[in-house]
Amino acid sequence: MTSLLILGIETSCDETATALYDSEKGLISHKVFSQIDLHKQYGGVVPELASRDHVKKLLPMVDHLINETGKSINDLDAIAYTAGPGLSGALLVGSVMANGLAFSLGIPSVPIHHMEAHLLAPLLEQDSANMPFIALLVSGGHTLLIKVESKGDYEIIGQTLDDAAGEAFDKGAKLLGLAYPGGPEISRLAESGSQGAFTFPRPLSKDKKNLDFSFSGLKTSLMYRVNQLKLDELFTDQCRADLAFAYEEAIVDSLVEKTHRAVKKINVDSVIIAGGVGANKKLRSKMLETFHKKSVEVIFPSLEFCTDNAAMIALTGSYRFQQGIHNENYQITVNPRWSIDKIYEEINANG
Ligand code: KG4
Ligand code: ZN
Repeated sequence: MTSLLILGIETSCDETATALYDSEKGLISHKVFSQIDLHKQYGGVVPELASRDHVKKLLPMVDHLINETGKSINDLDAIAYTAGPGLSGALLVGSVMANGLAFSLGIPSVPIHHMEAHLLAPLLEQDSANMPFIALLVSGGHTLLIKVESKGDYEIIGQTLDDAAGEAFDKGAKLLGLAYPGGPEISRLAESGSQGAFTFPRPLSKDKKNLDFSFSGLKTSLMYRVNQLKLDELFTDQCRADLAFAYEEAIVDSLVEKTHRAVKKINVDSVIIAGGVGANKKLRSKMLETFHKKSVEVIFPSLEFCTDNAAMIALTGSYRFQQGIHNENYQITVNPRWSIDKIYEEINANG
């Protein structure tokens, strides 16, 4: 098969990202513009501000990427874009841009599921993973354990019953007076915290087969601790660091334990960990330590491909395109609440 040049576009939340991917040579280049500074003062992402900023940044970023790589827009074979899940206004910006550009160039557009792209991101750096494998997808909006039989065949075997792991980090950071996004902030503060100064409950059900997560009790428990320590005038810098340590440890332990249960239950020899929380150093080392003893391979994308990026969108677009799944009707549909086990249903329905 001749090589295909795919433009990837990601605008599902607060990152505007573009990428060029060659189906034979791999990733050519990718760019991420983070809107963190725009949202920081509000302590979280403001959807309307996110959409408006995507409108401003996306087209110049596409232009810059194409020029920088010495390609022409006419070299493109398809345009892959995130169609869901995510913020509806933000997704619409990417969808309008991708479909408009694809229509004007007479090439197909390829709608991509954001979480599937996170799941496949490690394949930007390595050829394959042993199938079936377990994927732990941990981001600001999702915490999912997925049994992957093959590319496109995803069964959700565990998920969060309330907050996502990234959301737990972000809300915990707010309670500790830290900036958004909370994951990296909590990790940084936890480095000067001490083990054992505080402990938080691990939301682990006694039923060893249960693979669901729950983080809202943990967050409430942190809130009560913080309020009490403030009343007692003990909420010092060292105390905040100790709380960050214990809070991060509780989230990480819960993710590691449920992934371990999933690996035992399904009996696989590979685990992929992806999504923004996958950048967490403690999570990475505890996963490696746990599974190394059991000869289970643990695969993480490198840090730049853990958090939102368009390289993973273009890569997934390349697979979809080669499967013959693309959109030549240029329908501008997005699905903010798209479930990963309904990828084909949704694509077929939108034809
Ligand atoms: O995948 P992502 O970039 O965007 C979504 O699709 O949500 O994930 C963002 C989430 C945020 O909640 C952020 O706090 C968390 O990932 N995150 C981290 C780390 N880096 C990002 N959480 C823990 N440790 C990190 N180092
Ligand atoms: Zn994401």
